[in-house]
Amino acid sequence: MRKSGTRLALLSGLLVILGATVTAQEKLHVNQQRVWSTLEKLSEFGRPAGTGFRNGVTRVGFSPEDQAAREYVMGLMREAGLTVRVDPAGNIFARREGRDPQLPVLLFGSHIDSVPRGGNFDGDVGSMGAIEVMRALNDHGVKTRHPLEAVIWTNEEGHHFGRGLLGSSAAAGLLEKEVLDRRDADGLTLADWLRRYGQDPARMGEARIPLDRVAAYVELHIEQGGVLDDRKIQVGVVEGIVGIHWWTCTASGFANHAGTTPMDRRQDAYAAAARAALAVREEVRAEPGRQVGTVGYVRLEPGARNIIPGRVEFPVELRDLDAAKVLRLWARIEKRFAQIAAEEKVTITCVPLQADKPALTDPRIRDTIREAARAAGFTTLDLPSGAGHDAQQVAHFAPIGMIFVPSRGGISHSPQEYTPPEDVARGAEVLYRTILLLDARWN
Ligand code: GLV
Ligand code: MN
Ligand code: MN
Repeated sequence: MRKSGTRLALLSGLLVILGATVTAQEKLHVNQQRVWSTLEKLSEFGRPAGTGFRNGVTRVGFSPEDQAAREYVMGLMREAGLTVRVDPAGNIFARREGRDPQLPVLLFGSHIDSVPRGGNFDGDVGSMGAIEVMRALNDHGVKTRHPLEAVIWTNEEGHHFGRGLLGSSAAAGLLEKEVLDRRDADGLTLADWLRRYGQDPARMGEARIPLDRVAAYVELHIEQGGVLDDRKIQVGVVEGIVGIHWWTCTASGFANHAGTTPMDRRQDAYAAAARAALAVREEVRAEPGRQVGTVGYVRLEPGARNIIPGRVEFPVELRDLDAAKVLRLWARIEKRFAQIAAEEKVTITCVPLQADKPALTDPRIRDTIREAARAAGFTTLDLPSGAGHDAQQVAHFAPIGMIFVPSRGGISHSPQEYTPPEDVARGAEVLYRTILLLDARWN
């Protein structure tokens, strides 16, 4: 009796431990601890001084932190027996050969750059999840028919050089030529940075991936919104990704003495920019739907308490699944800006910076992801993505699918971003199973 009581206690203790990882009926091929420890290690590159894991990260694309993280990731890939190649846009590909060299590649991955003061999960989960899938395939001695490649796309967030989805845009042949000559605050161009990454920017065109090279692309990512977390759903099957349009606007007035210039004689660029930001909000809210619009920063010149601001730079970002709606909204916003500029006696000019189309995921890949998740015992929900992803550029040359895992409280682009280890592992498991199902069924 005592012996079986002890056994029961041991068993329930074990279940408590297991409960923190996976539930009783879930069987994982991936290794939860292993993938989590790579996330922890990755977080060291760009971690705020004096803090630990889960305190966020600043690892913008093309920075020393990004460069060091790339080295770490390439090391992991080589340890997993993968053949590593970096293309002229800095995208990292890690290849695992298949049985049939004639077949196109099954591609999966994400990005490891972050926004300034971002979180430890955006991009990182899909990147470390892709490497974990490769390691798990090795563990289980699986030889696929298709060649597999894990990819880490360059500068997805676009904080540096004002071009989001940079690496995947180059892969899709959509990278604007002038981006290579853009300069950062240190006077370095994107081309300079690509040379630091060991690449020849003059060969950027070679980063383009031809139409028949990739059979399918699957990206695992955190949801970054609160739908899955609110509804306690384990896996999201992404229906489509919003289009993202960026403009850089400048309000130009006249910098003058703040004490001696009467209120009716001012040409206050900041007053105009502030009204412009509110106009963006009003116009975006004026029609029903899920469209969003943001003015994310203001750069004020000269920027002193006793000088009326003479010049203000501010961006406008608009997003929606319907590109026509975005253009309609922008036409209305431009009209409002012209009116504000006249009233404030300033000029407002806006230059388009990037316009990435919305992309629908492939219904067959959606079905496969759902099937993979359900076979593993996970609950699923189909939902759209309000965040941009490299997958939307890949959609220009291959069918795409995306797997979402919950973001605690719907928080992202924040140090407080969090996805628990068991959800990270579930996402990696669904990626593992999806790749194997596609491998068995696709040519
Ligand atoms: C990328 O994370 C974006 O949606 O801005
Ligand atoms: Mn992001
Ligand atoms: Mn991301």
